[in-house]
Amino acid sequence: MRIGILGSGLMGGKLGTIFARAGHEVVFSYARSEEKLERLAREAKGKAWHGTPREAAQEADALLLAVHWSRINDVLSEAGDLSGKVVLTCSLPMNDDDTGLVVAQTSSGAEELAKRIPKTRVVAAFNTVPSEVLFAVYEARRKASRPSLVYCGDDRRGKELAAGLIRDVGFDPVDAGPLRIARYTEPFALLIGQLAYEGEEGPELAYRFERFGK
Ligand SMILES: NC(=O)c1ccc[n+]([C@@H]2O[C@H](COP(=O)([O-])OP(=O)(O)OC[C@H]3O[C@@H](n4cnc5c(N)ncnc54)[C@H](OP(=O)(O)O)[C@@H]3O)[C@@H](O)[C@H]2O)c1
Repeated sequence: MRIGILGSGLMGGKLGTIFARAGHEVVFSYARSEEKLERLAREAKGKAWHGTPREAAQEADALLLAVHWSRINDVLSEAGDLSGKVVLTCSLPMNDDDTGLVVAQTSSGAEELAKRIPKTRVVAAFNTVPSEVLFAVYEARRKASRPSLVYCGDDRRGKELAAGLIRDVGFDPVDAGPLRIARYTEPFALLIGQLAYEGEEGPELAYRFERFGK
């Protein structure tokens, strides 16, 4: 599969690298220096390139949107027409100093994004996990017990594709339902952030749901 990365920072850089190592074609885009994008593509060691957001979007089967909330309009305008594309978003609707959500309860960042790009298939995924744990989860992917990762969306094909990529990274995908459930997953991501960054054991944290009584 060909995956365009829109925002090649902590999340986009690491997830793009893992997608490439898992055998996908990846195009890194949208960082403040071209050298960084070049380096990411080189070090991913798979079928990875770099380009503009428009080049990343062209021919992509899926896009990963991984920018700060304040950069969404900018990166989308650089990416051009995304009609029909599956857009996975890990972007949280954080305020400028990253202390709180600017959209919550009655909507979510993922729903607002879907309104902004209505002809696309938006899936909220990878937003509830700190970037610091991603490589460790990928390294542990063959272990019997995988960490969970919630995702949600309204488009069946988009969600199937998302579930496959979530598995490729080493998580057990948990379908949380339609896109409006991002109203719950986005605040949950802040809880994970609190535990990861304010806890005493460091940010390499993932979570796992277990069902009892079956
Ligand atoms: N980090 C996490 O653990 C985590 C976890 C869950 C969800 N999220 C969410 O995921 C999204 C991405 O987070 P992140 O931590 O990956 O952010 P990040 O490291 O800041 O990455 C954002 C990317 O956007 C690029 N960028 C910013 N301003 C730009 C500009 N003016 N022109 C071109 N490129 C620009 C950055 O360039 P540079 O590479 O040059 O800085 C970087 O590549 C956010 O919405 C965040 O809330 C993050």
